[in-house]
Amino acid sequence: MEKVIALSGKGGVGKTSISALIVRMLRRDPGKRILAIDGDPAVGFSTALGIEVKRTLDQIRTDVIQTGGSGEKETRTALLQRLEYELADALTERRGFAFLAIGRPEGKGCYCKINEFLKLLIADLAPSFDYIVIDGEAGIEQINRRVMEKVTHLLLVSDASRKGIAVARTIRDVAQTSMRYDRVGLLFNRLTSYDDVAGAETGGLPVIGRLLESDGIRVADIQGKSLLDIPEDAVTRDLDRVLHNFLDL
Ligand SMILES: Nc1ncnc2c1ncn2[C@@H]1O[C@H](COP(=O)(O)OP(=O)(O)OP(=O)(O)O)[C@@H](O)[C@H]1O
Ligand SMILES: [Mg+2]
Repeated sequence: MEKVIALSGKGGVGKTSISALIVRMLRRDPGKRILAIDGDPAVGFSTALGIEVKRTLDQIRTDVIQTGGSGEKETRTALLQRLEYELADALTERRGFAFLAIGRPEGKGCYCKINEFLKLLIADLAPSFDYIVIDGEAGIEQINRRVMEKVTHLLLVSDASRKGIAVARTIRDVAQTSMRYDRVGLLFNRLTSYDDVAGAETGGLPVIGRLLESDGIRVADIQGKSLLDIPEDAVTRDLDRVLHNFLDL
């Protein structure tokens, strides 16, 4: 059974970095197929993974619609078939995983359309992969709009700030009515000490781990380097342990 892991949380708490570190850990098993999805129109996941984006989901969607041509209404199935064909090309695996970015609609394009596609896509592609890691957009909108309707693991990330924790709680509350997930967990990141969050009020949201500030992550970001290549440190080891438990590996 495939695992679909969606990351969400306040802006800047480390969703993209942790998404990349999850891919880093999962790809150690060469027998597993991994799909990494950048669900944030502001992008960034590809840089953290050290790859270039060929075509975004929005570009594919636009091309598929524009080459539709005949004016006759294509059935949903036919459209999906063509979309699938185009996707197969965009999804070529590099560095041991496939990657897809949703991208940003050009001009006055509507996010709802691209989000709708993302939703269909996740449902459609899930069976071909063992793991899907979705780096979500900051805040509750995508959860609210049911983009990630069905995942197995909802991983909420927060720093030590009250705001970060409040956003994670709100996302969990919204998720309870607008999506399906098997497990939810709160992962603290960028702590200066484990005590930073000792008495944190998580409102029943289970804390699955605490990660400290990491020089490796900080330096990779400054140098624009991939997090797949950073040396192991206390944070990567802590994260590996957390994921083994959370994902039941
Ligand atoms: N454990 C860590 N140690 C040091 N720096 C970190 C750590 N986690 C994240 N960072 C840094 O914090 C910044 C924000 O991280 P990141 O981009 O992963 O967050 P995000 O939640 O994806 O942000 P956004 O909401 O803008 O997408 C980056 O500069 C990143 O390098
Ligand atoms: Mg991000």
